[in-house]
Amino acid sequence: MQGQSRGILAIIGQGYVGLPLSVAAAKVGWTVIGIDKSSKVIEGLRQGRSHIEDVSSATLSELLARKSYRPTESFEEISSAEICVVCVPTPLDENGNPNTEILESAIESVAPHLKAGTVLINESTSYPGTLRDLIFKIMEKHRAEGVSEIHFASAPERIDPNNDKWDLKSTPRLVSGLDREATDLAKSFYSTICSQVIEVSSPEVAEMAKLLENTFRQVNIALVNQLVPFSRELGIDIREVIKAAGTKPYGFMEFYPGAGVGGHCIPIDPMYLLWKSRQLGIDLPFIENADRVNANMPAYVSKRLVEIIKDDKSKNVLICGVSYKSGVADLRESPAHQVALELEKMGYKVLWSDPLVESFQGFEKYSNQGLCGAIIVTAQVGLDRQFIENLKVPVLDCTGVFSLATNAIQL
Ligand SMILES: NC(=O)c1ccc[n+]([C@@H]2O[C@H](COP(=O)([O-])OP(=O)(O)OC[C@H]3O[C@@H](n4cnc5c(N)ncnc54)[C@H](O)[C@@H]3O)[C@@H](O)[C@H]2O)c1
Repeated sequence: MQGQSRGILAIIGQGYVGLPLSVAAAKVGWTVIGIDKSSKVIEGLRQGRSHIEDVSSATLSELLARKSYRPTESFEEISSAEICVVCVPTPLDENGNPNTEILESAIESVAPHLKAGTVLINESTSYPGTLRDLIFKIMEKHRAEGVSEIHFASAPERIDPNNDKWDLKSTPRLVSGLDREATDLAKSFYSTICSQVIEVSSPEVAEMAKLLENTFRQVNIALVNQLVPFSRELGIDIREVIKAAGTKPYGFMEFYPGAGVGGHCIPIDPMYLLWKSRQLGIDLPFIENADRVNANMPAYVSKRLVEIIKDDKSKNVLICGVSYKSGVADLRESPAHQVALELEKMGYKVLWSDPLVESFQGFEKYSNQGLCGAIIVTAQVGLDRQFIENLKVPVLDCTGVFSLATNAIQL
């Protein structure tokens, strides 16, 4: 870790994206003001407790002690920063359309405190045009009087939590500003924390590239999910088919089926693209179909579980691994929730087990109650073959990870 400060950086939102960024920047010499509107998040961070798996509490404590990182709820502190990066949630509303209220409110809170010359960078995922049509316009309305020279850039985050190989540093960063100076300033910032910074011709290209990446995953996952019932009918193991196809050295990429898609990216980002296309009166049926296929998986796997249950006197079923992916405690959009609701609809009592998760949507935690069946939604760290075999009931494995367990039946 470096001793001399490169400058002052404010990061808005201290979650899965903002906290690793804060730590990465503080480590290379930035003095980081980590702003979050949640007092619980800030209190924990002040005490050196990390709530994000990829950031260790030891590192956090060291940066706090060196005063390289200062968590705060106060937006006023932005006034000392040269760079301000926004990393707040961009979810969907109840109709499945982009809900940019959090982003808008974050920009409104930031605006009055930016000094002239500051670079405002958006890392939050959103539709093409967000920087120019939304953020810039809110800033125009709310910025402090007399502060005219603010630079705007887009640099969508591509982080994959719990990925040991591709992290914030090793994953190339796409950057583009609203003008030449903004692009250069943003590039110069990211080159202090990322090995490769790629300039694209406009913020819209950067914003849409991020959506394309996750839409690519969404449609490919949907493709293999759609092949699950079909290959079952043929008596062919879909995972073996995918592995076999994956031996082709070019033109194919392995995606695997599962209980659905979860997290803050795959189920959401394609909907931002879809919404934008509808604004222009353009259909993107490929994305719509993929969304439908993936959204139907929890119902499909729940029915499959019920089919393999031999004796359902107890009516207790167990969901193993409830976070949306292995190695994280993040429950956002996890298909486990839909699976639980489907099983409840069919008259089962849902219990759950997940070594990383503390509570799950009000469902009762498993503590050796009698069961009639179980389903593995996520191959969570800490769930092992012995645990699965000890359940002594049929277990539907949606992950392919527990194929050796004697009681596991593959999706
Ligand atoms: N989680 C991922 O794997 C991932 C990967 C790439 C991109 N993204 C994108 O990054 C953005 C942030 O996602 P995340 O996963 O870090 O979310 P998160 O929920 O983990 O963290 C967001 C933080 O922002 C805070 N916050 C909310 N409103 C705020 C406001 N007005 N002012 C200040 N703080 C506020 C929240 O309290 C929270 O701590 C989203 O657009 C997401 O799509 C996420």
